[in-house]
Parts: sequence; structure tokens; C-alpha cells
Amino acid sequence: MQDPKFVKDAFSKIADRYVVTNHVLSLGTDILWRKRVGSIVQDWKPKQILDIATGTGDLALQLQKSCDDAEVIASDFCPEMLAHASRRGVKKTEVVDAMNMPFEDDSCDVLTVAFGLRNMADYPAALTEMRRVIRPGGHLLILDFSTPEGILRKPYVFYLNKILPSIAGLLTKQKEAYSYLAGSIGDFPSGSAMCELIGKQGFIEPRCEPLSGGIASIYTAEA
Ligand SMILES: C[S@@+](CC[C@H](N)C(=O)[O-])C[C@H]1O[C@@H](n2cnc3c(N)ncnc32)[C@H](O)[C@@H]1O
Repeated sequence: MQDPKFVKDAFSKIADRYVVTNHVLSLGTDILWRKRVGSIVQDWKPKQILDIATGTGDLALQLQKSCDDAEVIASDFCPEMLAHASRRGVKKTEVVDAMNMPFEDDSCDVLTVAFGLRNMADYPAALTEMRRVIRPGGHLLILDFSTPEGILRKPYVFYLNKILPSIAGLLTKQKEAYSYLAGSIGDFPSGSAMCELIGKQGFIEPRCEPLSGGIASIYTAEA
């Protein structure tokens, strides 16, 4: 659970370097993860997609490509991040706080959130608000970092806490924003714990698909 003022401020400071830093730190794997999200969402054949905490719009751009019949609304509470999304080709953007959205009940077929829920002030309340705007029978998809189990766990935690903040600090001059990132991943529910949390907010059949050995996961559920 995070302090929204700190989060908004941190993202406004790194907005200009966010896309490059992301691809460097993930060695480009985030592109493959978003493609996988695109193909899952495409199978649901949505007409209305809401991508919240869209940031600089990487997932919204992928969804525009994978689901060319759908209207994709990309929202975020940080205007500096959203400005990059528009510049990069996201067609419809709105400045919106995901904890209190101006959208009607049951107004979208699919709601996606990539690397966003982890930054929100209250995970159960954020999921309840997401549930409100997805129509019954529609889908939720969350893509986020998770903590791998087994032999990958130790080296991953070392990379996250020691190496990642230093590389990102060099690229963005905002080392503390990336130390925050490492902490936020460690504290974030992962795997079955996340499925349980999603189920408790009224979603049906939450599922987890681990990616790249479990360093990220896609969670899906029906509303
Ligand atoms: C790590 S970035 C992820 C951006 C993008 N979805 C991606 O996959 O690259 C997290 C984003 O969440 C946004 N965010 C955090 N809390 C939010 C909230 N309560 N409402 C809307 N956006 C929020 C931040 O402004 C930031 O742009």
C-alpha cells in the first residue's frame, strides 16, 4: 500500500526516462509480457477496454494493436506520464485516479492494469473500484512483478535491491524512486496470495500465469 502523493511525484520525475529505463532493466522482456497480455485480451473480443495506471502507454499501444475493433481508454493520475502516452500514439487518454474513477458502473468489457496496482494506496479498495466498472461477465487482467519461488528467488531479490536501483539511478538520476520500486515488489502479494485477494473482492475464478520464471505474473478473473 503506497502514499499517492509520493507515487505521483516519483512518476512525474521519471516520466521522461521511463520507457527506456523500463526496457533496459527488464532486458526487453516487458515487451514480450505485454504481447502475451494483448493475445489474452484479444481472445475475449472486447469492445471497450479500460487500461488504468497506463503511464506512458506501452500496454494501451499493444491493446490498440491486438484489439483493433475495441475502443481503448488509457487513464492515469500522473499527467506527465500520460502526456508521453498521447505523444506515443495512444488515441484516448484521461487523467483519472484509479481509486475513484469517473466511469459508470459496468461500463467496460475488460479492465487492464500493468505494474499499477502495486503503486496504489489500498489494494482491496482499488480492486473493488475496478470490479465496479467492469460489466458482469467482463474481465480483469493484472500484469505485475511477482517474487519467484525456488532457486531464482535469492538472485532475484539481490538484483532487485542492490543492482536495479543503481542502474536505474544512473539512467534517471532518481535512485530513490527505484529503491521504492524494489520495496514495493517485495511487499506486493504474489501468486496464490494475489488470486485470493482478487477473489475476495468479488471476482470469479482468479488465475495466475507466471512469466519468465515468476519474476512477473499475469492475473485474470471474471467480473
Ligand atoms: C510503473 S507505472 C506503469 C505504467 C504502465 N502501465 C506500464 O506498464 O508501463 C505505474 C503507473 O501507475 C500510476 N498510478 C499509480 N497510482 C495510481 C492511481 N491511484 N491512479 C491512477 N494512476 C496511478 C502512476 O502514475 C504510473 O504512471
